[in-house]
Amino acid sequence: MKFGVLGTGVVGQTLATKLVQLGHEVMMGSRSAANEKARAWVAKAGAKGRAGTFGAAAKFGEVVVSCTEGKVALEALRTVDRRDLAGKVVIDVSNPLDGSRGGVPVLSVCNHDSLGESIQREFPDARVVKALNTCNCDVMVDPSRLKGDHDLFVCGNDAKAKEQVTALLRDFGWKSIHDLGDITNARGTEQLLPLWMRLYGLFQSPDFNFRIVRKG
Ligand SMILES: NC(=O)c1ccc[n+]([C@@H]2O[C@H](COP(=O)([O-])OP(=O)(O)OC[C@H]3O[C@@H](n4cnc5c(N)ncnc54)[C@H](OP(=O)(O)O)[C@@H]3O)[C@@H](O)[C@H]2O)c1
Repeated sequence: MKFGVLGTGVVGQTLATKLVQLGHEVMMGSRSAANEKARAWVAKAGAKGRAGTFGAAAKFGEVVVSCTEGKVALEALRTVDRRDLAGKVVIDVSNPLDGSRGGVPVLSVCNHDSLGESIQREFPDARVVKALNTCNCDVMVDPSRLKGDHDLFVCGNDAKAKEQVTALLRDFGWKSIHDLGDITNARGTEQLLPLWMRLYGLFQSPDFNFRIVRKG
């Protein structure tokens, strides 16, 4: 399958590499078609990797992964021809973190809204699925690096899109995936980030995840 991965940061690089390893074709998108990080990634990825603008990557992908800096994720998506998102699954991995005040970043949108919903609202014809935003990118693509059971969440308005993303996550190695419901549930997963960041400070390592324990 063809993926457009919007983002040249560590998340874009890690997800794009995993997708290529799984046999998919990937175009990594950036503000500039000549982005050096994207070019360096293509050199390592081989024939199944390519690079382009955010717009070119979204056009290329049958599935689009949004993994740009949260506070500019909409800005990045607005550079895409919206017809190139229509009907497509858009996996939103981004978190709306605002570190401008110093200290632990805060959420720039929360409580009555979320970034996942903002993306779905602005691109109503896209099939947005919020996923993978609650763990570090090394864990995203290799959940077995952590011992024992641990959990992941998906949410979105389109049941078939969530099934498709869940199948991909199983290919990544995920076993315990909870469908929280519609895209408003991105409020819940994005609001795990203030806790995630404090656990990161406590453990001094991003190699951890949330584990849900239920009675019976
Ligand atoms: N780090 C993790 O393990 C982790 C885990 C879960 C979720 N996340 C989320 O995943 C996302 C990506 O994180 P990251 O650390 O890989 O990368 P990042 O540094 O947060 O974002 C890099 C991307 O943002 C784009 N960008 C920056 N300013 C922009 C602007 N003004 N307009 C449009 N695009 C702009 C960059 O474009 P160029 O390519 O043009 O430079 C680049 O592609 C974030 O939302 C983060 O919260 C991260």
